[in-house]
Amino acid sequence: MISLILASNNQHKVTEIRKILPKCFDLVSLKDAGITTELPETKGTIIGNATQKASFVWEATGVECLADDSGLEVDALEGRPGVDSAHYSGFPISADRNMDLLLSQLHGLENRRASFVTILALIKDGVCRHFEGRVFGTISEQKRGENGFGYDPIFIPDGQLLTFAEMDDKMKNEISHRSIALRKLKAFFDLKEGN
Ligand code: IMP
Repeated sequence: MISLILASNNQHKVTEIRKILPKCFDLVSLKDAGITTELPETKGTIIGNATQKASFVWEATGVECLADDSGLEVDALEGRPGVDSAHYSGFPISADRNMDLLLSQLHGLENRRASFVTILALIKDGVCRHFEGRVFGTISEQKRGENGFGYDPIFIPDGQLLTFAEMDDKMKNEISHRSIALRKLKAFFDLKEGN
């Protein structure tokens, strides 16, 4: 067994990571690890925030851990919302308002290219390592689909006709940024696909 605290308060990410990683990963929730506060995310970059969240949990518990920081980078917006994806339209956080803002900013623009990125930060043997996954695609004209979370209803991965939110979990998890990063994590632990 590979035992790790999963350093995320985002239930959607936790569910996806648990579905993608094989059974030999024993993923302990923050609650079960006794952490009830929000994790800090103040570094201003995706890699900085992933490292900050993992370091916070490692320092609080002394237990090896895995953090995920992700975002949507839109070419025509010079990479925004990026690290600000979760609260792009302000607080309280609303995925619907975030998507509406982004769609309005892209209104009338031809270039709708974007990519989703996940950076995982793993602290093991006292060392922090990073694993990155990126999936390229386009932003749809309208929200489509009910599955997933965040910006899933407006992201169409390259080679697909459906948005992430129109796909079932299995299909999204085969091609998503998060699954690409997790595949690299599995390779680090030297686990074969499907293990
Ligand atoms: P953070 O990683 O907690 O900073 O949050 C990243 C934000 O990016 C989330 O709140 C979502 O809005 C968005 N996001 C990250 N991954 C995904 C995804 O797989 N689908 C849709 N939106 C995502």
